[in-house]
Amino acid sequence: MATRIDGKALAAKVKAQVAEKAAKLPRQPGLAVVLVGEDPASQVYVRGKEADCGECGIRSFPYRLPTETTQRELLDLIEKLNRDPAVDGILVQLPLPEPLEEAAVIAAIAPEKDVDCFHPYNVGRLNIGDPVFQPCTPAGVMEMLREYGISPAGKRCVVLGRSNIVGKPMAALLTQADGTVTLCHSKTPDLADITRQADILVSAVGKVNCVTADMVKDGAVVIDVAMNRNSEGRLCGDVDFAAVEPKASYITPVPGGVGPMTRAMLAQVLKEETGAKVRGIELNLLQRCGAHLASLTDIQESFLSGRTAVLEAISGTTDKMVGFERKYDEKGSYVCGIKLMDLTDVANTEKKVPLEWINREGNNVNK
Ligand code: GUN
Repeated sequence: MATRIDGKALAAKVKAQVAEKAAKLPRQPGLAVVLVGEDPASQVYVRGKEADCGECGIRSFPYRLPTETTQRELLDLIEKLNRDPAVDGILVQLPLPEPLEEAAVIAAIAPEKDVDCFHPYNVGRLNIGDPVFQPCTPAGVMEMLREYGISPAGKRCVVLGRSNIVGKPMAALLTQADGTVTLCHSKTPDLADITRQADILVSAVGKVNCVTADMVKDGAVVIDVAMNRNSEGRLCGDVDFAAVEPKASYITPVPGGVGPMTRAMLAQVLKEETGAKVRGIELNLLQRCGAHLASLTDIQESFLSGRTAVLEAISGTTDKMVGFERKYDEKGSYVCGIKLMDLTDVANTEKKVPLEWINREGNNVNK
């Protein structure tokens, strides 16, 4: 009999870790959640995501738009969110009602705010094995495997379903973890012959009981990503759970398996993204603008105590300090900027930086 993988318990653990770390960030991460239309399943998903983020100390900015929303209105909203410094992540719940064009909407999201990892840039980064973001559902599955000591390395992994949201990124993450991956879909012939070879079988089809016991090898790990309703209206996955559970070594239930993990991973992605921005990207900019003359610890400390760093001057101090602003080019892409502020504008002003440090090397400082 298989061990049931408890997604609910693991999600609670991940969320507690995220909440603890998010509380130490110099500012609260923010997630904009955009839902267009009245799809009941999407409404449930979105409420769940917002609730989980709230538990982790992440602020949600909910946008509920009517079904009639035009492409232009949606793109305008995304552009506004791209520019909003309080918004670290933008999630547009899919599917969008027709005739809205999903691909164009996803492409409009600034890649550094694309917490779903749907933007073509982030999909490319994921597929070359250098991801900026981890797509939440596949990342949740990988976290579950890790927690239960199941390594895909050297294993035969079979993924059912080639969606951009789950199947394809799932195959990429399993490949990255050294699994030998077969991605199957509706046109795959002799499906059961392939699934019977799987040491790890991940199903993301969306069809009740499409994975039957004869399709599963003895001792396989079975992960059910789907959320379906059966003929009695009860929530269930793709897997014929009662028949497969005795054959598998590990199995995820529905509900209580992958679903809660997906939402917890979203919170984790956001926390990491905000932390990376504050500590990594912006710190890197600081160094480039001449801060290498001050000690790194010093800069880091200033950073962690607030959003603005004030650097120690060696000589020739000015009454200006270095701050950051989010800047965007005409296409809405993020180009991080540095600006000078008057020290008098800032409460925490014990350190100063010489103006010439900042202005050298074409740092394009706004005065
Ligand atoms: N619709 C179903 N799953 C997802 C998801 O993970 N993210 C978004 N944005 N929409 C979805």
